[in-house]
Amino acid sequence: MTLIEQLLRPDIAALEAYTPVAPIEVLSAQLGLPVEQIMKLDANESPYGPSPRAAAAIDALGGGKPLAESVQFLEPLALAIYPDPTHTFLRERLSNYTGQPAERILCSSGSGELIDLLMRAFIQPGDVILDCPPTFGMYAFDGGLHAARIVNVPRDAAFELDVEAVVAAVHTHRPKLLFLAVPNNPTGNPLPRAAIERLLDLPTMVVVDEAYVEFAGATVADLVGQRPNLAVLRTFSKWAGLAGLRIGYGLFHEALIQHLWKIKQPYNINVAAQAAALASLADVDYLMGRVQEVIAERERVYARLRTLAGVHVYPSQANFLLLRALNSSALQLKNDLYRRGILVRYFNKPGLDDCIRVSMGTPAQNDAFLAALEALVDG
Ligand SMILES: Cc1ncc(COP(=O)(O)O)c(C=O)c1O
Repeated sequence: MTLIEQLLRPDIAALEAYTPVAPIEVLSAQLGLPVEQIMKLDANESPYGPSPRAAAAIDALGGGKPLAESVQFLEPLALAIYPDPTHTFLRERLSNYTGQPAERILCSSGSGELIDLLMRAFIQPGDVILDCPPTFGMYAFDGGLHAARIVNVPRDAAFELDVEAVVAAVHTHRPKLLFLAVPNNPTGNPLPRAAIERLLDLPTMVVVDEAYVEFAGATVADLVGQRPNLAVLRTFSKWAGLAGLRIGYGLFHEALIQHLWKIKQPYNINVAAQAAALASLADVDYLMGRVQEVIAERERVYARLRTLAGVHVYPSQANFLLLRALNSSALQLKNDLYRRGILVRYFNKPGLDDCIRVSMGTPAQNDAFLAALEALVDG
C-alpha cells in the first residue's frame, strides 16, 4: 500500500470515479471534426445557449461596457471583488420566479452542490439514502462520498416509482434522505403530486429534484412552506442554457435552510454566474419561448421514433428522450452515432444497458439524429 493509500479514507480510496461526459473540444480532436459539426445531444444542455441578455451581462463584467440594468448593482469592480455570499438580489428575483419567499431560497454552484450540501448536513457514515434507479447517478455517487449506505428501490418496467415499496423501505431502513428526480432523468417520466405528498408524510427528508421542471410544468415548490422535510432543487443549466456557469438553487423550509446556510462555502457562486442568472430572470419570456421550442421538438421526435420498428421510445416530460434498442446493441448504436459526430448518452447500468438517451437539439440537429438512427436501426 502506498503512503497516500494509507493516509486516505479507505472508502474514498476504494470509491469508483464518476464518469462525466467528455468535453466537446476533446471529442472534436478525437473525431477530427470541428466543434460546430458535432451535435452534442448527450448532457441535456440547451441547444440555444443562454439568453442574449445573460451573455451581454457577462460580457459587460470585463469592464469598458455599460452593465445591463438587471446587474447594475455590480458596478464598478465586479470581477475584482468577492461575490455576494448571500445572493441577495438573485434570491429576491428568484422569489418572484418561484412564488416562494427569499428566506426559503439558497443558491448554489449548480444544483449538484445542493445534493452534496444536503448530504453534508444529514449523512454520517452508515446512514441510509434511498435511491430509485434508474435515475440521476449523482445521488448514489455523492452518497458514496459521504459513506452512506444506499438502499435501492428499483422502478418498474415502465420506470414508474413503486410508491408502496418506497413506503415499506422507509419504515424498514429509516433513511435520512430519499431522492426523487421529477421528471426523472434519464427516463423522462413525471411523478404525480399525490405520490409526493404521500411520501412527505414519511419520517424522512424528501428531495425533489426539479432540474427539468420548466419542460414539465408541474412543481411541488408551493409545498415547501408547509413541509419542513421537503427540499426542492432547481437549476439554470437546462432551461436557461447556463450549464457552463454552474448555477442552481434550492427551496427549503425555514427549519432546514438555517442549517444549510451554516455549512455552505461563503463564495459558492461567482460574479459571472450571479450576473447571468439575474439577466436570465429578466428575460424569462425569451427563455420560456426556447423551452416551448424544445418541447415541440420533443413531441415531434417522439412521434417519429414511434414509427421505427427498431426502437421503443418512452414518453418524456423533460428535454430528452430515452430509447430502447430492440434488435441492435445500444452501445454499438451510441458508437455508430458518435462516428457521425452525434453524441448521445449510453448508460452501462442494469435496466438501461439496451438504452440510449438523446437530448433535444435544434430542429436541424434532431433531423440529423433521426436520419442517422433510422439508417442504423431500420435501414
Ligand atoms: C436530475 C438532475 N439533477 C441535477 C442535475 C445537475 O444539474 P446542475 O448542472 O445544476 O448541477 C442534472 C443534470 O444533468 C439532472 O439531470
